[in-house]
Amino acid sequence: MEGIDKNRVYIFDTTLRDGEQAPGYSMNIEEKIRMAKMLESLGVDIIEAGFAISSPGDYASVEAISTAVERPVVASLARALKKDIDAAYGAVRNAKHPRIHVFLATSDLHLEYKLKITREEALKRIEEAVTYARSLCSDVEFSLEDATRTDYEYMARVVEKAIDCGASTINLPDTVGYSTPDEIKEMVSYVKSHVRNIDKAIISMHCHNDLGLAVANTISGIEAGARQVECTLCGIGERAGNAALEEVVMALKTRSDKFGFHTAIRTEEIMKSARLLSSTTGVRISPSKAIVGDNAFAHESGIHQHGMMANSMTYEIMKPESVGVIKTNLVLGKHSGIHAFSKKLEEMGYQISKEHMDDLFSAFKKLCDKKKNISERDIMALVENRENPDEQIWALDSFVVNSGNRMTSTACISLKKSGSDKIYQEVASGTGPVYASLRCVEKIIKHPFSLEEYQLEALTEDRDAQGEVFVKISDRSGVYRGRGVSTDVIEASILSCLNAVNKMLSNHALSDGGSAVNMSFENDMLLEHTDKRGI
Ligand code: KIV
Ligand code: ZN
Repeated sequence: MEGIDKNRVYIFDTTLRDGEQAPGYSMNIEEKIRMAKMLESLGVDIIEAGFAISSPGDYASVEAISTAVERPVVASLARALKKDIDAAYGAVRNAKHPRIHVFLATSDLHLEYKLKITREEALKRIEEAVTYARSLCSDVEFSLEDATRTDYEYMARVVEKAIDCGASTINLPDTVGYSTPDEIKEMVSYVKSHVRNIDKAIISMHCHNDLGLAVANTISGIEAGARQVECTLCGIGERAGNAALEEVVMALKTRSDKFGFHTAIRTEEIMKSARLLSSTTGVRISPSKAIVGDNAFAHESGIHQHGMMANSMTYEIMKPESVGVIKTNLVLGKHSGIHAFSKKLEEMGYQISKEHMDDLFSAFKKLCDKKKNISERDIMALVENRENPDEQIWALDSFVVNSGNRMTSTACISLKKSGSDKIYQEVASGTGPVYASLRCVEKIIKHPFSLEEYQLEALTEDRDAQGEVFVKISDRSGVYRGRGVSTDVIEASILSCLNAVNKMLSNHALSDGGSAVNMSFENDMLLEHTDKRGI
């Protein structure tokens, strides 16, 4: 395309759509907005905010994200159907840069068995859908689902038609993660040399990771001429996930000598973005995960440490600071003032507003009374655990728990309800202190729930370490995650439960309020999208 930097690769982030579809990664609307703002600060070019037709929740999130961010394009996915395109446009129309992302499968396998239509019928649907989408929105992307198993000649006809109808981005997904880097190169080269009007569109890659080749395939696509890549933070997504944003971006940056491409990603924000995703979803980052895992920059072996001391280039191909891993000497403790505390937060890459800083500082001081050494992990927990007071329906006031090996555990918990000064108190017993505490919470909120998962981990190695508890609770409306941190593991358990309870109850409040839009939503329309609301 004319006037664009030929070596610039556009980053299309689909953490909030393809990523969020994966079991265990669902987020509520506030969490998605927070994540979208983080992605904006990270520098992604396009945020795929959701699949508007799939549910009222998705529609509302796409709509909210559209006005929550300014610089990036905001896209919503749509099948090649008028009602999907209407929903997608309805949800993104207030974005500064809206995009409708239309898709239809083009491989014979999908046409024959899933869609039960011929190639010609599919071509007609694509023509109608892209033309209609383009009549609503000037930025339309078309994806040939299962492109890597699509006949090349037919693919060229589809791409040409979609561009003629107004699509300015053509996405060639490796939907089932089946392809290899040389095949991707061949496919993109074929499209570049056989599609008459290809100079009017940007080619995009969207690679799934079923064979662990998503990043390699994505980069291969770029080398062959793709200039948009669709990826997710930490590679989350359907089945084995999508190409990991941080890996694609850092491969291009670290090996710019080989590839010669660049992105607009502020790489120093990568770590913070990955941590926000992890703390939001409650899914831990594997320690050996490339770029963002705890061990990615750790050097344990003597030989490595010796080499590192002589010259860090011996074993370090990227500077930890370049992805936001900062090792500072600024140690905090009970004598640290707000100035040192805010400097530390700044060094760790957090930008905290003045009002939040005061709250955080008082939480920090309380922690200093309980714990001698405050580690970076403790500070991260303080920042990441801040629950928005507006989302806090129930908050912990006080608790007393009795437990022992010759008695039934009992708990007495007092909770405060938002908007009232009244204290609600209940007593319950159980086979253990956590069980008894959760029973108390359940009695106070008068809303039964089941505990699906409970994980307790120490944040640091020291004896006075804080415990971090992740829970998953469920009721008939779905599964909700919660997280709590405290030097007292029972308190951490109650806090994590309340965190999940607040999400559950606010979801009920939302669904009681009904949908703002007059349309029917479809949860079960795609095989791979069916379990989305279940988790
Ligand atoms: O994997 C895929 O093919 C997709 C499309 C809907 C873009 O996610
Ligand atoms: Zn996908």
